[in-house]
Amino acid sequence: MIDSADSGQSPMQASMQAVLQELTRLRTQIARHDYLYHTLDAPVIPDVEYDQLFARLEQLEAQYPQLITSDSPSQRVGAAPLSGFVQVTHEVPMMSLAKVFDTVDLEDFEARIKRRLDTNADISYSCEPKIDGVAVSLLYEDGVLTRAATRGDGVTGEDITHNVRTLRDIPLRLGLVNEAAAATIPRRLEVRGEIYMTRSGFEIMNREAERTGGKSFVNPRNAAAGTLRQLDPRITDQRPLRLFCYSANVLSEPGEKGANERGANESPALPATLSATLSQLEQWGLPVNPERRTVTGAAECLAYAQDLLAKRPSLDYEIDGAVIKVDRLQLQAELGFNARTPRWAMAYKFPAEEVSTVVLGVDFQVGRTGTITPVARLQPVFVGGVTVSNATLHNMAEIARLGLHIGDTVIIRRAGDVIPKVVKVITEEGAPTALLTVEMPAECPACRSKVEPDGDILFRCSGGLVCPAQRKEAIRHFCARGALDIEGLGEKLIDQLVDKGLVHDVADVFHLRHEDLVGLERMADKSASNLVSAIDKARQTTLPRFLYGLGIPDVGEATALALVNHFGTLDLIMAADTTALEEVADVGPIVAAHVQHFFANAENRAVVARLRDSGVRWNESEVAVQSDILQGQIFVLTGTLEMMTRDEAKEKLQALGAKVAGSVSKKTTYVIAGPGAGSKLDKAVELEVPVMDEPQFLAFLAQYLPV
Ligand code: IVH
Repeated sequence: MIDSADSGQSPMQASMQAVLQELTRLRTQIARHDYLYHTLDAPVIPDVEYDQLFARLEQLEAQYPQLITSDSPSQRVGAAPLSGFVQVTHEVPMMSLAKVFDTVDLEDFEARIKRRLDTNADISYSCEPKIDGVAVSLLYEDGVLTRAATRGDGVTGEDITHNVRTLRDIPLRLGLVNEAAAATIPRRLEVRGEIYMTRSGFEIMNREAERTGGKSFVNPRNAAAGTLRQLDPRITDQRPLRLFCYSANVLSEPGEKGANERGANESPALPATLSATLSQLEQWGLPVNPERRTVTGAAECLAYAQDLLAKRPSLDYEIDGAVIKVDRLQLQAELGFNARTPRWAMAYKFPAEEVSTVVLGVDFQVGRTGTITPVARLQPVFVGGVTVSNATLHNMAEIARLGLHIGDTVIIRRAGDVIPKVVKVITEEGAPTALLTVEMPAECPACRSKVEPDGDILFRCSGGLVCPAQRKEAIRHFCARGALDIEGLGEKLIDQLVDKGLVHDVADVFHLRHEDLVGLERMADKSASNLVSAIDKARQTTLPRFLYGLGIPDVGEATALALVNHFGTLDLIMAADTTALEEVADVGPIVAAHVQHFFANAENRAVVARLRDSGVRWNESEVAVQSDILQGQIFVLTGTLEMMTRDEAKEKLQALGAKVAGSVSKKTTYVIAGPGAGSKLDKAVELEVPVMDEPQFLAFLAQYLPV
């Protein structure tokens, strides 16, 4: 046999060597792409190229099964389901956190720490979101993931390695993404963190389950917990689970006593602070939370928690608070533990976004155009920071989908400033209560006119402006911001004015006198005078506002403006037939029919005439300066503007043909951000939408508007 020239290997050995090298290279490449894609959300190659790498790995491993290693990316999903869970004893117990709810508690926490440490020096804290998921412990031996376990009772948990291996953001081997960092990996490293399901992944998964009749989950946390309890890792593999690591321990060799010190002596130790440890974990390829911060003192902890609370609605995972931990590990060791919780950490709890309560009844609300919406009347509960006693049910189809009855126990969700909604009915089947079915009333609850179906899922009151509920809504709309914007003429007052017969339609608002108003509830002499002058001021308006205020179905602010831009005067709009109306950009047959129908109605024409007679006016020549220079551009305004109100900024943009939207998406052209901008600004940064501050915005406008 001829030895291969320089290596002293046989050709057979040399080719095996080449296969091994290729396998190692493929595994490292795939692990790096997994990290870029799943941990950083920043892939650098297209999916097809990744698939090619993976296919090559699988091909080689099929050819050389003896070369398969447990940390190969091909081995994430094990073959057969388990028959049960094996118990795992934690080498270092998994504690829980004491909770604080307000500033005073947080200051007490810091005072206790300083007293124990007998110091007056500033304390640094590592702060991060408290993830609403499932705690896990990951064991890496020689850099390879060898075991994953649940927290259990803190002392004993369950082995869930088979499931955890399927999470693509959990490396099966550490140190592949940054070779320089690999040298410092301890021999036995325990990493702790929280496994969670993303909100977006949860929504998609539940929608799919509903479509296919599969099992849906109440919230992302339950979904994560349920998924980790699967015996079959192929199911876990299909679910959108992810991890954030929050701590690490260097463990001693099995069977040795004196754990940490000895382990740390033989193996590289962790950095001196938690914040540096987390950055170290990141270097080794583990996911850590990007919202983590290191701060000094209780006041900065509080500021961190408040910022995080404001960000909460824009995060794609659920959090239930901020975790505040003394950053220096030596100080943590000095502070030690109470019975169940460390003295060096606290959970600053946020208000729950989901709670359960009971449906006391279902009311039916009549909207401006007569649409009847079912609203659940609830046993009042504190959720998302406010007390909620109603939640919209949208329509009858939604009630059927939820399977909701009066008397049911339901889960209510209120996230950020979002309107509360019923997420799910949790009354157990066969519950011993006499539950009442919800039915659409045959008559309008406000005027007793007949209720008629409108399409497949909606119902409408047939009463038109005879119906006081519709009249109230129409008047509210006319007086609201965006329309005539009459300051001080709010919901409660309009209810009184309509109920007392003082106002029958929008035109009557302009005939209200001081003596009509005083004597109404909460209406003193001064506020009555103020309202009369606000009404007088509102007489001078613009045509787009007036047209929008009339409340023609489907004619929002943008459509009203487009109509005005096209026709120029109200008389021309009122006279237009559907063919002429459809020539307007964005006006289709449905909107055209609504506009034509509205002005064909004699009663509506009479209201318009009376409004004009009572002095409501606009400058028609102003309309002519409108332009379409920003046509197709979408702006979002956020934060406070100092030189103009947001409404004024909006009008200026619309006058130039731009659209002004309420939320940021990939389609947004610019975000205008003033001081106090929050989640919309974050979203803009995330989506790389250009942002202007107010001075930049003014300069931008000046290019197009005469000053
Ligand atoms: S630190 C000594 N950090 O909250 C315990 N815990 O009550 C130190 N949790 O079950 C825990 N996010 O799984 C820490 N960023 C975070 C966390 C976090 C969620 C969970 C943890 C534990 C519970 C503590």
